[in-house]
Amino acid sequence: RVAMTALLQRPADIIAKPQAAHHPKIPLPRDLFAPERRNSRGVEFGERAALDHLLAEIAAEPTDLTPIADATPEQANAAVAAARTGFAAWSRTSAGTRAAALEQAAHLLEQRAPHFIALLQREGGKTLDDALSELREAADFCRYYAAQGRKLFGTAEAMPGPTGESNVLTLRGRGVFVAISPWNFPLAIFLGQVTAALMAGNSVVAKPAEQTPRIAREAVRLLHEAGVPANALHLVTGDGRIGAVLTAHSDIAGVVFTGSTEVARTINRTLAAKDGPIVPLIAETGGINAMIADATALPEQVTDDVVTSAFRSAGQRCSALRLLFVQEDVADRMIEMIAGAARELKIGNPSDVATHIGPVIDNEAKQRLDAHIARMKTEARLHFAGSAPAGCFVAPHIFELADAGKLTEEVFGPVLHVVRYRAEHLERILAAIARTGYGLTLGVHSRIDDTVDAIVERLSVGNVYVNRNMIGAVVGVQPFGGNGLSGTGPKAGGPHYLARFATEQTVTINT
Ligand code: NAD
Ligand code: ALA
Repeated sequence: RVAMTALLQRPADIIAKPQAAHHPKIPLPRDLFAPERRNSRGVEFGERAALDHLLAEIAAEPTDLTPIADATPEQANAAVAAARTGFAAWSRTSAGTRAAALEQAAHLLEQRAPHFIALLQREGGKTLDDALSELREAADFCRYYAAQGRKLFGTAEAMPGPTGESNVLTLRGRGVFVAISPWNFPLAIFLGQVTAALMAGNSVVAKPAEQTPRIAREAVRLLHEAGVPANALHLVTGDGRIGAVLTAHSDIAGVVFTGSTEVARTINRTLAAKDGPIVPLIAETGGINAMIADATALPEQVTDDVVTSAFRSAGQRCSALRLLFVQEDVADRMIEMIAGAARELKIGNPSDVATHIGPVIDNEAKQRLDAHIARMKTEARLHFAGSAPAGCFVAPHIFELADAGKLTEEVFGPVLHVVRYRAEHLERILAAIARTGYGLTLGVHSRIDDTVDAIVERLSVGNVYVNRNMIGAVVGVQPFGGNGLSGTGPKAGGPHYLARFATEQTVTINT
């Protein structure tokens, strides 16, 4: 078991404040998936008693799961109008004031860890280790954007110029930012978007995914309590129809969206069709993410990393592995080992610490995945089918495709597609990956540096993971985001992200 304190620790130069003091000493359950398990960084192993204590605290947490009414279009429009009023005051607060609110939010999140974990499990279907790592990521976003924001927005930047002239560059908020988020990271992505927009001096209207509004409601309450004025941050619940009302509003100054490529396109069209100021879109979308494992890779490591990348979180991660290319010489053995490891995974109730894979988000998602699996059974070679309990569960599956081109869209669940390749045909594989049009994550397993360099250079992919699993991104360490069909390029949790939410002004004075 890995201690939560160790998992939450970040080098002090990455996140503004040393973390350890704020984290309750709560251990994680034994986690077959946890990358930290392998990276021996002096990670502590927790006590069974402490784990039991955490589990009891989570179990005792009351969570209000009664349905939340969708906002009406009138309420959505009213939220934008109120945020417009809120912008005037919030944009004039100092960067230090805004950063302090975000830091306080991080502190409150950690104090209320059992409550948020309970919500993440009960509304979002998260396993304990997924819920813990999401909580950590959410707190990291708050602190990281606070630290970045102090630097970027705290002082104006003096630019060089001739004698007798001063040139100063400042960044400021754009206005009302609409933040639209998905259900798969209902706390971390929701808070990441909102805190970035707020730190840059915008007011925010946040629309969470319709599947996870309660987590969002708690997160907004927490930000208000932490010092963000009510008028600067508004929650609007509902499905895509209410999202469409917000993006069509004439008074918004920007949209930050995380979700499917299809919806990003719809929003892009809506924004482009509007009269008035040009409204920027920050879009972070999906991927058909590939991993290439050649014959020099270590089979045990590939097995572990493939199982983690394809099946952890029931494959419901934008970064998850969908398409594994294995060099023919080692393919039979590698597939056998991966299937063997997948057979060990326990699927079921996410509150049971022994569970590796919880439910998929809803029946619609299950039906889509079941239909894909049924189609694959007729078009591809089935290597492994796990078994899942009744309910909203989908068991891991491994199919072998004759041709990567058969996978034409993102399959958002625990389904791994394998393609064999001959060493002399590596270029064909790279072309097949490029042809998907996506560019979010890429995994490479090889012990030959030249091969790794050639692959990395050839593909335009936002996040490349070499000789490790390819999911997860540590805030301030692995800035995350993709290109092409995977997004407009900004990197959440990176040093350039906040500037995307701001306008810049240069003032030149003839002194
Ligand atoms: P989705 O696109 O269906 O929905 C995302 C959000 O958009 C929801 O809040 C939804 O209500 C809203 N929405 C739907 N239609 C809309 C419209 N016409 N106008 C405005 N808003 C609208 O995505 P999802 O199923 O919630 O999430 C899964 C997707 O998110 C996957 O494709 C995954 O790859 C992607 N994702 C990407 C990242 C990343 O960082 N790149 C991270 C997480 C998830
Ligand atoms: N938040 C994304 C993931 O964990 C990067 O996969």
